[in-house]
Amino acid sequence: MARKKIAFIGAGNVGATCAHLCFLRELGDIFLYDVIDGLPQGKALDMLESGPVMGVDLRVSGSTDIRDIEGASCCVVTAGMPRKPGMSRDDLLKINAGVMSTVGRAIKQLCPSAFVIVVTNPLDAMVTQVKRETGFPKNQVVGQAGVLDSARYRTFLATELGVSVESVSAAVLGGHGDDMVPIRSHTTVGGVPVERLIAPQRLEQIEQRTRQGGGEIVNLMKTSAYYAPAAAIFRMVEAYLLDRKEILPCAAYLEGEYGVRDCYAGVPAVIGAGGLEKVIEIELTEAEKAAFALSVSHVRELVAAMDKVL
Ligand code: 2OP
Repeated sequence: MARKKIAFIGAGNVGATCAHLCFLRELGDIFLYDVIDGLPQGKALDMLESGPVMGVDLRVSGSTDIRDIEGASCCVVTAGMPRKPGMSRDDLLKINAGVMSTVGRAIKQLCPSAFVIVVTNPLDAMVTQVKRETGFPKNQVVGQAGVLDSARYRTFLATELGVSVESVSAAVLGGHGDDMVPIRSHTTVGGVPVERLIAPQRLEQIEQRTRQGGGEIVNLMKTSAYYAPAAAIFRMVEAYLLDRKEILPCAAYLEGEYGVRDCYAGVPAVIGAGGLEKVIEIELTEAEKAAFALSVSHVRELVAAMDKVL
Protein backbone atom coordinates (compact mmCIF):
# COMPACT_ATOMS: atom_id res chain seq x y z
CA MET A 1 0.00 0.00 0.00
CA ALA A 2 1.38 3.42 -0.97
CA ARG A 3 2.20 5.75 1.86
CA LYS A 4 -0.05 8.73 2.42
CA LYS A 5 1.29 12.20 1.62
CA ILE A 6 1.04 15.02 4.15
CA ALA A 7 1.33 18.52 2.69
CA PHE A 8 2.47 21.37 4.93
CA ILE A 9 1.31 24.59 3.33
CA GLY A 10 3.62 26.99 5.13
CA ALA A 11 7.07 25.71 6.14
CA GLY A 12 7.80 28.17 8.94
CA ASN A 13 8.37 27.22 12.56
CA VAL A 14 4.95 25.66 13.17
CA GLY A 15 4.63 23.82 9.83
CA ALA A 16 8.19 22.49 9.77
CA THR A 17 8.17 21.46 13.45
CA CYS A 18 4.94 19.54 12.91
CA ALA A 19 6.33 18.00 9.72
CA HIS A 20 9.33 16.81 11.72
CA LEU A 21 7.07 15.19 14.34
CA CYS A 22 5.10 13.44 11.57
CA PHE A 23 8.40 12.34 9.99
CA LEU A 24 9.73 10.91 13.26
CA ARG A 25 6.48 9.00 13.80
CA GLU A 26 6.50 7.89 10.13
CA LEU A 27 2.94 9.05 9.50
CA GLY A 28 3.47 9.55 5.78
CA ASP A 29 5.59 11.16 3.07
CA ILE A 30 6.23 14.80 3.83
CA PHE A 31 5.86 17.73 1.45
CA LEU A 32 6.71 21.28 2.50
CA TYR A 33 5.44 24.31 0.58
CA ASP A 34 6.42 27.90 1.21
CA VAL A 35 6.71 31.13 -0.77
CA ILE A 36 10.27 31.81 0.44
CA ASP A 37 12.49 30.18 -2.16
CA GLY A 38 15.04 27.83 -0.64
CA LEU A 39 13.27 27.47 2.71
CA PRO A 40 11.00 24.48 1.98
CA GLN A 41 13.63 22.82 -0.20
CA GLY A 42 16.32 23.29 2.45
CA LYS A 43 14.22 22.15 5.41
CA ALA A 44 12.99 19.12 3.45
CA LEU A 45 16.53 18.11 2.50
CA ASP A 46 17.76 18.61 6.06
CA MET A 47 14.92 16.45 7.41
CA LEU A 48 15.51 13.79 4.77
CA GLU A 49 19.18 13.64 5.74
CA SER A 50 18.21 12.90 9.35
CA GLY A 51 16.55 9.70 8.07
CA PRO A 52 19.61 7.43 8.20
CA VAL A 53 20.27 8.45 11.80
CA MET A 54 16.68 8.09 12.92
CA GLY A 55 15.97 5.00 10.82
CA VAL A 56 13.25 6.70 8.78
CA ASP A 57 12.80 5.97 5.06
CA LEU A 58 10.07 8.40 4.04
CA ARG A 59 10.02 10.70 1.03
CA VAL A 60 10.55 14.31 2.05
CA SER A 61 10.43 17.14 -0.46
CA GLY A 62 9.79 20.85 -0.60
CA SER A 63 9.07 23.51 -3.19
CA THR A 64 7.62 26.94 -3.85
CA ASP A 65 5.17 25.49 -6.36
CA ILE A 66 1.78 25.00 -4.75
CA ARG A 67 0.91 22.46 -7.47
CA ASP A 68 3.24 20.03 -5.72
CA ILE A 69 0.66 19.51 -2.95
CA GLU A 70 -1.23 17.37 -5.48
CA GLY A 71 -2.49 14.07 -4.14
CA ALA A 72 -1.99 14.88 -0.45
CA SER A 73 -4.28 13.02 1.96
CA CYS A 74 -3.85 15.66 4.61
CA CYS A 75 -3.09 19.38 4.25
CA VAL A 76 -1.82 21.40 7.22
CA VAL A 77 -2.28 25.11 6.56
CA THR A 78 0.03 27.41 8.51
CA ALA A 79 0.76 29.84 5.66
CA GLY A 80 0.39 33.54 6.33
CA MET A 81 1.95 36.08 8.62
CA PRO A 82 2.72 35.10 12.20
CA ARG A 83 1.87 37.31 15.13
CA LYS A 84 4.40 39.97 16.06
CA PRO A 85 4.63 41.62 19.52
CA GLY A 86 1.76 43.98 20.19
CA MET A 87 -0.24 42.49 17.32
CA SER A 88 -3.50 40.79 18.13
CA ARG A 89 -4.61 37.76 16.17
CA ASP A 90 -7.24 40.00 14.60
CA ASP A 91 -4.63 42.37 13.16
CA LEU A 92 -3.64 39.58 10.87
CA LEU A 93 -7.12 39.31 9.42
CA LYS A 94 -6.74 41.05 6.12
CA ILE A 95 -3.39 39.69 4.99
CA ASN A 96 -4.06 36.13 5.98
CA ALA A 97 -7.62 35.97 4.60
CA GLY A 98 -6.17 36.64 1.15
CA VAL A 99 -3.62 33.87 1.64
CA MET A 100 -6.42 31.46 2.69
CA SER A 101 -8.37 32.20 -0.49
CA THR A 102 -5.39 31.28 -2.68
CA VAL A 103 -4.53 28.20 -0.61
CA GLY A 104 -8.18 27.06 -0.47
CA ARG A 105 -8.50 27.20 -4.26
CA ALA A 106 -5.31 25.18 -4.69
CA ILE A 107 -6.43 22.50 -2.24
CA LYS A 108 -9.81 22.22 -3.94
CA GLN A 109 -8.19 21.65 -7.31
CA LEU A 110 -5.22 19.50 -6.31
CA CYS A 111 -6.31 17.48 -3.25
CA PRO A 112 -10.10 17.25 -3.44
CA SER A 113 -10.38 14.53 -0.82
CA ALA A 114 -7.79 15.80 1.66
CA PHE A 115 -8.48 16.37 5.34
CA VAL A 116 -7.57 20.01 5.89
CA ILE A 117 -6.31 21.33 9.21
CA VAL A 118 -6.11 25.12 9.34
CA VAL A 119 -3.81 26.73 11.89
CA THR A 120 -3.24 30.24 10.51
CA ASN A 121 -4.51 33.07 12.72
CA PRO A 122 -6.98 34.52 13.36
CA LEU A 123 -7.92 30.87 13.37
CA ASP A 124 -11.70 30.89 13.43
CA ALA A 125 -11.96 33.30 10.49
CA MET A 126 -9.20 31.60 8.49
CA VAL A 127 -10.76 28.15 8.74
CA THR A 128 -14.08 29.71 7.66
CA GLN A 129 -12.39 31.15 4.57
CA VAL A 130 -10.73 27.85 3.64
CA LYS A 131 -14.05 26.02 3.98
CA ARG A 132 -15.74 28.57 1.72
CA GLU A 133 -13.03 28.46 -0.95
CA THR A 134 -12.78 24.68 -1.04
CA GLY A 135 -16.52 24.11 -0.77
CA PHE A 136 -15.56 20.96 1.14
CA PRO A 137 -18.02 19.34 3.57
CA LYS A 138 -17.59 20.17 7.25
CA ASN A 139 -15.91 16.86 8.13
CA GLN A 140 -13.04 17.74 5.80
CA VAL A 141 -12.06 21.23 7.07
CA VAL A 142 -11.19 21.81 10.72
CA GLY A 143 -9.20 24.32 12.70
CA GLN A 144 -6.52 23.55 15.25
CA ALA A 145 -6.75 25.55 18.43
CA GLY A 146 -8.40 23.55 21.16
CA VAL A 147 -5.71 20.87 21.47
CA LEU A 148 -3.13 23.63 21.98
CA ASP A 149 -5.24 25.72 24.35
CA SER A 150 -6.16 22.64 26.38
CA ALA A 151 -2.50 21.59 26.49
CA ARG A 152 -1.58 24.96 27.97
CA TYR A 153 -4.36 24.69 30.56
CA ARG A 154 -3.24 21.14 31.43
CA THR A 155 0.39 22.24 31.71
CA PHE A 156 -0.44 25.04 34.16
CA LEU A 157 -2.77 22.84 36.23
CA ALA A 158 -0.23 20.00 36.42
CA THR A 159 2.50 22.45 37.48
CA GLU A 160 0.24 24.00 40.11
CA LEU A 161 -0.63 20.62 41.61
CA GLY A 162 2.75 18.96 41.09
CA VAL A 163 1.26 16.04 39.15
CA SER A 164 1.87 14.49 35.75
CA VAL A 165 0.34 16.32 32.80
CA GLU A 166 -1.16 12.96 31.87
CA SER A 167 -3.23 12.99 35.05
CA VAL A 168 -4.93 16.21 33.98
CA SER A 169 -7.86 16.00 31.61
CA ALA A 170 -9.20 19.33 30.36
CA ALA A 171 -10.94 21.04 27.47
CA VAL A 172 -10.77 24.62 26.30
CA LEU A 173 -13.58 25.43 23.88
CA GLY A 174 -15.01 28.39 21.93
CA GLY A 175 -12.95 30.64 19.67
CA HIS A 176 -9.14 30.81 19.67
CA GLY A 177 -9.12 34.31 21.09
CA ASP A 178 -8.66 35.95 24.44
CA ASP A 179 -12.18 34.85 25.37
CA MET A 180 -11.64 31.12 24.82
CA VAL A 181 -13.50 29.05 27.40
CA PRO A 182 -11.70 26.64 29.75
CA ILE A 183 -14.41 24.16 30.73
CA ARG A 184 -13.87 23.80 34.46
CA SER A 185 -16.83 21.48 34.93
CA HIS A 186 -15.14 18.88 32.70
CA THR A 187 -11.61 19.37 33.98
CA THR A 188 -10.37 16.62 36.23
CA VAL A 189 -7.11 15.61 37.89
CA GLY A 190 -6.85 11.87 38.36
CA GLY A 191 -10.62 11.82 37.95
CA VAL A 192 -11.19 14.43 40.70
CA PRO A 193 -12.97 17.65 39.59
CA VAL A 194 -10.39 20.45 39.49
CA GLU A 195 -12.64 22.75 41.49
CA ARG A 196 -12.15 20.49 44.53
CA LEU A 197 -8.38 20.85 44.26
CA ILE A 198 -7.73 24.50 43.42
CA ALA A 199 -9.44 27.54 44.97
CA PRO A 200 -11.67 29.52 42.57
CA GLN A 201 -9.50 32.64 42.59
CA ARG A 202 -6.33 30.70 41.78
CA LEU A 203 -8.16 28.71 39.13
CA GLU A 204 -9.28 31.96 37.54
CA GLN A 205 -5.63 33.14 37.38
CA ILE A 206 -4.58 29.88 35.72
CA GLU A 207 -7.42 30.20 33.22
CA GLN A 208 -6.46 33.77 32.44
CA ARG A 209 -2.88 32.67 31.77
CA THR A 210 -4.27 29.96 29.47
CA ARG A 211 -6.33 32.52 27.52
CA GLN A 212 -3.24 34.63 27.05
CA GLY A 213 -0.93 31.65 26.50
CA GLY A 214 -0.14 32.51 22.87
CA GLY A 215 0.60 36.14 23.72
CA GLU A 216 2.85 35.14 26.63
CA ILE A 217 5.13 33.27 24.22
CA VAL A 218 5.02 36.05 21.60
CA ASN A 219 6.17 38.52 24.27
CA LEU A 220 9.07 36.26 25.22
CA MET A 221 10.26 35.15 21.78
CA LYS A 222 8.99 38.09 19.68
CA THR A 223 7.36 35.54 17.42
CA SER A 224 4.62 32.93 17.65
CA ALA A 225 4.85 29.71 19.64
CA TYR A 226 5.64 26.56 17.70
CA TYR A 227 6.55 23.51 19.76
CA ALA A 228 3.13 23.24 21.41
CA PRO A 229 1.14 24.29 18.30
CA ALA A 230 3.07 21.75 16.21
CA ALA A 231 2.44 18.99 18.75
CA ALA A 232 -1.27 19.84 18.75
CA ILE A 233 -1.51 19.62 14.95
CA PHE A 234 0.51 16.40 14.96
CA ARG A 235 -2.06 14.84 17.26
CA MET A 236 -4.85 15.70 14.81
CA VAL A 237 -2.94 14.44 11.76
CA GLU A 238 -2.19 11.21 13.59
CA ALA A 239 -5.81 10.72 14.69
CA TYR A 240 -6.90 11.11 11.05
CA LEU A 241 -4.24 9.00 9.33
CA LEU A 242 -4.36 6.20 11.90
CA ASP A 243 -8.16 6.36 12.21
CA ARG A 244 -7.81 6.68 15.97
CA LYS A 245 -11.27 8.16 16.52
CA GLU A 246 -9.75 10.29 19.20
CA ILE A 247 -11.87 12.94 20.87
CA LEU A 248 -9.99 16.20 20.47
CA PRO A 249 -11.13 19.80 20.87
CA CYS A 250 -11.19 21.26 17.33
CA ALA A 251 -12.63 24.26 15.55
CA ALA A 252 -15.61 22.59 13.86
CA TYR A 253 -18.27 23.98 11.57
CA LEU A 254 -21.40 23.84 13.70
CA GLU A 255 -24.86 23.32 12.30
CA GLY A 256 -26.99 23.43 15.42
CA GLU A 257 -24.65 21.74 17.91
CA TYR A 258 -24.22 23.79 21.08
CA GLY A 259 -27.05 25.99 19.79
CA VAL A 260 -24.75 27.45 17.12
CA ARG A 261 -25.55 27.47 13.42
CA ASP A 262 -23.26 28.07 10.43
CA CYS A 263 -20.21 29.12 12.38
CA TYR A 264 -16.87 27.60 13.41
CA ALA A 265 -16.19 27.16 17.12
CA GLY A 266 -13.96 24.99 19.27
CA VAL A 267 -15.82 21.89 20.48
CA PRO A 268 -14.83 18.30 21.28
CA ALA A 269 -14.96 16.13 18.17
CA VAL A 270 -14.09 12.61 17.04
CA ILE A 271 -11.19 12.63 14.56
CA GLY A 272 -10.72 9.49 12.48
CA ALA A 273 -10.41 8.32 8.89
CA GLY A 274 -13.58 10.24 8.05
CA GLY A 275 -11.97 13.48 9.20
CA LEU A 276 -14.09 15.22 11.78
CA GLU A 277 -16.53 12.37 12.23
CA LYS A 278 -18.74 13.70 15.00
CA VAL A 279 -19.13 16.66 17.28
CA ILE A 280 -19.49 15.59 20.90
CA GLU A 281 -21.96 17.64 22.89
CA ILE A 282 -21.01 17.88 26.56
CA GLU A 283 -23.20 19.49 29.15
CA LEU A 284 -21.98 22.93 30.16
CA THR A 285 -22.87 24.94 33.23
CA GLU A 286 -24.90 28.12 32.74
CA ALA A 287 -21.77 30.24 33.19
CA GLU A 288 -19.85 28.14 30.63
CA LYS A 289 -22.77 28.35 28.19
CA ALA A 290 -22.77 32.14 28.49
CA ALA A 291 -18.98 32.35 28.04
CA PHE A 292 -19.17 30.01 25.03
CA ALA A 293 -21.96 32.10 23.46
CA LEU A 294 -19.91 35.27 23.98
CA SER A 295 -16.85 33.68 22.40
CA VAL A 296 -18.91 32.51 19.41
CA SER A 297 -20.37 36.00 19.01
CA HIS A 298 -16.79 37.27 18.70
CA VAL A 299 -16.05 34.65 16.05
CA ARG A 300 -19.05 35.93 14.09
CA GLU A 301 -17.80 39.51 14.44
CA LEU A 302 -14.39 38.44 13.21
CA VAL A 303 -15.87 36.71 10.15
CA ALA A 304 -18.00 39.81 9.44
CA ALA A 305 -14.87 41.98 9.70
CA MET A 306 -13.07 39.62 7.30
CA ASP A 307 -15.93 39.86 4.83
CA LYS A 308 -15.58 43.64 4.85
CA VAL A 309 -11.88 43.59 4.01
CA LEU A 310 -11.93 40.75 1.48
C1 2OP B 1 -0.82 30.38 19.79
O1 2OP B 1 -1.81 30.43 20.53
C2 2OP B 1 0.02 30.23 17.45
O2 2OP B 1 -2.20 31.02 17.98
C3 2OP B 1 -1.10 30.30 18.33
O3 2OP B 1 0.32 30.29 20.21
